[in-house]
Amino acid sequence: MRSALYVSESAARPAAVIVLAAGAGTRMKSRTPKILHPVGGLSMIGHALNTARALNPQQLVAVVRHQRELVAEHILRHDDAALLADQDEIPGTGRAVESGLEALAAAGAPAQSGTVVVTYGDVPLLSPQLLSELVAQHETEGNAVTVLTTVLEDAAGYGRILREGDTVTGIVEHKDATEQQRQIREINSGIYTFDAAVLTRALSRITTDNAQGEKYLTDVLGLARAEGGRVAALVTEDRWQVEGANDRVQLQALSAELNRRTVEAAMRAGTTVIDPSTTWIDTTVTLEEDTTLLPGTQLHGKTHIARDAVVGPDTTLTDVTVGEGAKVTRTHGSGAVIGAGGVVGPFTYLRPGTVLGEEGKIGAFYETKNVNIGRGSKLSHLGYAGDAEIGEYTNIGCGNITANYDGENKHRTVIGSHVRTSSNTVFVAPVEVGDGAYTGAGAVVRKDVPPGALALSVAPQRNAEGWVQNKRPGSAAAEAAEQATQHDGDNTTDGDN
Ligand code: UD1
Ligand code: CA
Repeated sequence: MRSALYVSESAARPAAVIVLAAGAGTRMKSRTPKILHPVGGLSMIGHALNTARALNPQQLVAVVRHQRELVAEHILRHDDAALLADQDEIPGTGRAVESGLEALAAAGAPAQSGTVVVTYGDVPLLSPQLLSELVAQHETEGNAVTVLTTVLEDAAGYGRILREGDTVTGIVEHKDATEQQRQIREINSGIYTFDAAVLTRALSRITTDNAQGEKYLTDVLGLARAEGGRVAALVTEDRWQVEGANDRVQLQALSAELNRRTVEAAMRAGTTVIDPSTTWIDTTVTLEEDTTLLPGTQLHGKTHIARDAVVGPDTTLTDVTVGEGAKVTRTHGSGAVIGAGGVVGPFTYLRPGTVLGEEGKIGAFYETKNVNIGRGSKLSHLGYAGDAEIGEYTNIGCGNITANYDGENKHRTVIGSHVRTSSNTVFVAPVEVGDGAYTGAGAVVRKDVPPGALALSVAPQRNAEGWVQNKRPGSAAAEAAEQATQHDGDNTTDGDN
């Protein structure tokens, strides 16, 4: 229960952080390796690598074995400076750390002195603050080993912390523990700091002589004490930070807790969240002050919400930038940019490459993709705009469609500024409409429209007078027409034109 005291005096760079990620994780029942499952917008191992990297270690090592290729590729994509260590068939956390040290030596960067930190790839809520607190305590006290522990209601399955008074004397695994030891509720989180030299010496002496036939990393504690080293614990009251996920039930619990923390942090930083229980914010999302999230909003990836913007209800945005004061209602969007003062929704589908200019609008039942919409331009209702360029202050009428696909290739539609298009205009790309041009209702625009022209493509209307009375005699329509002609006898049309 050390306090923030140690955070501020966080000392030297650790020689290495070793992240253990060789385990199988079979209880996930998944083809995807356990540590690649996402929590709060990053894989579990992604969170672990970020926390490890935040300590600024001289080396960051990830120990891999199970589904090696997938895991290794993912790790290097997340952190290309990480060093991979392959664990062999000898099982156990002790062997895993030994593999990490061997990889460091093989890479010409042996961890001979200083502090070695060990963490797990499946503990995503561990914060850099808590981990550096552990390092700081370790170094301030001059420990051989410092273990991060917590006290649980139900400690079954975990390694138990053995103490004599305040002194930590060792860790006993659940399977190896006596009934009496199993009553201990202080557990080993699996996160430690070690003196590099002590660790190396101890690992070379550890055997697999235990209930599981594994090389236990936990045996280092006893060996360190036997050679006169000091072993201590940092007890955290925040069990979530040391909690791992073995199955999807635990994964969901971790996700919910991480989200609760992210949403709370957003509120403390100036975002109004109407309903935290239905609001999901990835840890990678950024929000400015005075933003508002309405119920059912999910923000993912690199989404950024600028000041005074209102998002939701029922909106999912992935990698979307929402400009200052914009309003985004019941929208599903990814890879889009919404300019300041922009209005989107309700029921709008923004696909990648959508850029809406300041004060622009994409209204109800619109789908957009790869389209640049200039300042103040409006696409208010019912349509599709893809592979298009639209200038400023243009008004696109109801039901307009860019026919961008000829069955084999995609083509661009270019529409100028201050254009007015009438309802149901179809732009058959490639085609260009000049500044200030208009289109008539239902126009199918196949040829370029010069600036200021009115594009008409629908055949002139012709009324066949009395057609219904002649062809549908006795029908309700014919009778209605008959009555209307009698009442408005002197109000007939001009006939064909
Ligand atoms: C270990 C600890 C236990 C502690 C618990 C916390 C040991 C002997 N026991 O339990 O005291 O309470 O963690 O969760 O260390 N791993 C490898 N290679 C291996 C085995 C495991 O890389 O050969 C990795 C796993 O991927 C995982 C972590 O080490 O990230 C822990 O493995 P796991 O089997 O879950 O923990 P236990 O050994 O049961
Ligand atoms: Ca195990």
